[in-house]
Amino acid sequence: MSLQIGAKPDHGFDNPTGLLSDCHRRIERFLNKLILVAERADGGELSEEQRHALETSLRYFRKAAPRHTRDEEDSLFPRIRRSGSAEAAQVMSMIDSLEGDHMEAEVLHRIVDSAGESWLDKGSLDQPTLAGMRNALYRLRTMYQGHIALEDTKLFPLADRILPPEEIAAVGKEMAERRGLDYRQPLRCRTRIGAQ
Ligand SMILES: [Fe+2]
Ligand SMILES: [Fe+2]
Repeated sequence: MSLQIGAKPDHGFDNPTGLLSDCHRRIERFLNKLILVAERADGGELSEEQRHALETSLRYFRKAAPRHTRDEEDSLFPRIRRSGSAEAAQVMSMIDSLEGDHMEAEVLHRIVDSAGESWLDKGSLDQPTLAGMRNALYRLRTMYQGHIALEDTKLFPLADRILPPEEIAAVGKEMAERRGLDYRQPLRCRTRIGAQ
């Protein structure tokens, strides 16, 4: 992914919840790109720009976004669950429902990926498959709106409040390891982490 001039730099691995929120901005951006292509190209021939948008967005959701899910499900959520905090006890069902969203998103992304790859491959997309792709994209948009808002405004601030510094540091370390990066290196540019 190219560096965007004027864009806010990513947080570092020393601020894992900040980094997860950065990733949310990418999810929103790539999803919007997919929706724009599906609406404007209407299953027909893709312009060079649309083809590029489709390729990069599909690649993001296929390769990078699953790591974000692992960051949450394998690194962050278990630490909140076992923290023993009274505040955490109140959000257990929220965490369960966020994990349910992840499973639903995986199914919807598979529909989008298969339709998008077929479009790229054949140069056009039949209307029923396009309709299925759009439907999956709109469902993803609705789901992500609520999901991301809950994580950004409720769960991540809660994690920062209740988890001790060493647990926060461990989340950041695992996130770096998941990407084959050194967590001690400051992450000052989104090109460093690419489409995380
Ligand atoms: Fe999530
Ligand atoms: Fe998330």
